[in-house]
Amino acid sequence: MNKQFKLIKRPLGEVQASDFEVSITEIPTAHEGELLIKTLYISMDPAMRGWMNDAKSYIEPVALGDVMRAGTVGKVIESKNPKYQTGDYVVSLNGVQEYAISNGKGLMKIDTRLAPLPVFLGTLGITGLTAYFGLLRIGQPQAGETVVVSGAAGAVGMVVGQIAKIKGCRVVGIAGGKDKCDFVVEELGFDACIDYKSQDVRKALKDYCPDGIDVYFDNVGGDILDAALSRLNRGARIPICGAISQYNQMQAVQGPKSYLSLLVNRARMEGFVVFDYAKDYISAIGEMAQWMQAGKLKSKEQVVEGIDNFVDTLGMLFEGKNTGKLVLKVAED
Ligand SMILES: NC(=O)c1ccc[n+]([C@@H]2O[C@H](COP(=O)([O-])OP(=O)(O)OC[C@H]3O[C@@H](n4cnc5c(N)ncnc54)[C@H](OP(=O)(O)O)[C@@H]3O)[C@@H](O)[C@H]2O)c1
Repeated sequence: MNKQFKLIKRPLGEVQASDFEVSITEIPTAHEGELLIKTLYISMDPAMRGWMNDAKSYIEPVALGDVMRAGTVGKVIESKNPKYQTGDYVVSLNGVQEYAISNGKGLMKIDTRLAPLPVFLGTLGITGLTAYFGLLRIGQPQAGETVVVSGAAGAVGMVVGQIAKIKGCRVVGIAGGKDKCDFVVEELGFDACIDYKSQDVRKALKDYCPDGIDVYFDNVGGDILDAALSRLNRGARIPICGAISQYNQMQAVQGPKSYLSLLVNRARMEGFVVFDYAKDYISAIGEMAQWMQAGKLKSKEQVVEGIDNFVDTLGMLFEGKNTGKLVLKVAED
C-alpha cells in the first residue's frame, strides 16, 4: 500500500498535524512511458511552508487535497520508460508519499559512486546548488573579501561558507547556539561564527568583520538582515536566498529597516530561485563532487526515520533542531 500525506488545510503560523490527512491507497501501476518509484528519503525544506500558502510565488501552491510537495530520492522499481531501468536511483519532486508514478520528466539520475543517497538532497542536491549559484552568481565573492552567511550550520549555509573559503574569502557564519558555531568553525573551517541566540549580532559583526562585509548571504531575514546591512562595504552584494524567521509570520513580513545602507554603500540586494539555474545543475554538481573528493567540501546530513514523523520533522527546521541537511528516511533501500 502507499501512504500519502495530503494537505487539507492551509496552516496558520506553525504547521500542525491537522493540516494533513494521511491516506492509504493502492500502490499505483506504471503504464507505457511511465515508471514506478519507491521513495527512500524525503527532503525537509523551509520552502515547504511557503508552498502551503495560497499566495502568488515562484511556484504554484500545493492544492488542498493534493499530496504535499517535497523533494525525494527514490528507486525505480518498475519501468516502462526506455530512459530508466529498474534499480536506478533518481531525485524527483515526488512528495510526501511512499510510492509515485513518473513520466520521466524532471527526474535526475543519481550516480551512487559519488556519495550516499541523502547527500543528493543536500550538498549534491537542491540546497548545495542553492548555495553554489546564490553565492557565485549573485554574491560574486572575490579572494580576500569578507563573506557573512546566516543559517550557517544549515543545509544551504554550511555549503555557502565552504565555497567562500574555497574562493579565498574570510568567512563568518551566524547560527543559533554554541554547538552549531563550533561545528562550522572547527569542522567546516569557517573563520568565525556568531551565536545569535547569546550574542549581540551587531556588535559581534563589528568584532569579527573589522574590514566590513562584502557579501552577506541571507537565509533568515528579520533582525539579522538588518544587522548585516549596518556593516556593508561599498559595492557589497546580498543574495536574498530565504527568510526563515518570517515564514510562520501571521502578520506582515518584517522588511529591512536599514535599507538605505544600500544607497550609501552603492550595494545591491538580489533575490534568486535555484530552479532558474537548472540547465547548469549537472556541471555544478560535478564541480562540488570534485571538491568533496578533494576534501575541500564537507557534507552533513541529519536523518530522521519514518514517514509518520513528517510533520514533527518539518517543524525541526523552524526550531533550529537540525544541523546540516535534514532528511526523512522512508524506507530501506
Ligand atoms: N532561493 C532558493 O532557491 C532557495 C532554495 C533552497 C532554500 N532556500 C532558503 O534557504 C534557507 C535555508 O534553507 P535550508 O534548507 O538550508 O534550511 P536549514 O538552514 O538547514 O534549516 C533551517 C535553519 O534556520 C534557522 N532558523 C530557524 N528559525 C530561525 C529564526 N527565527 N531566525 C534565524 N534562524 C532561524 C535554524 O538554524 P539556527 O539554529 O541557526 O537558528 C534552522 O536550523 C531558507 O530560508 C530557505 O527557504 C532558498
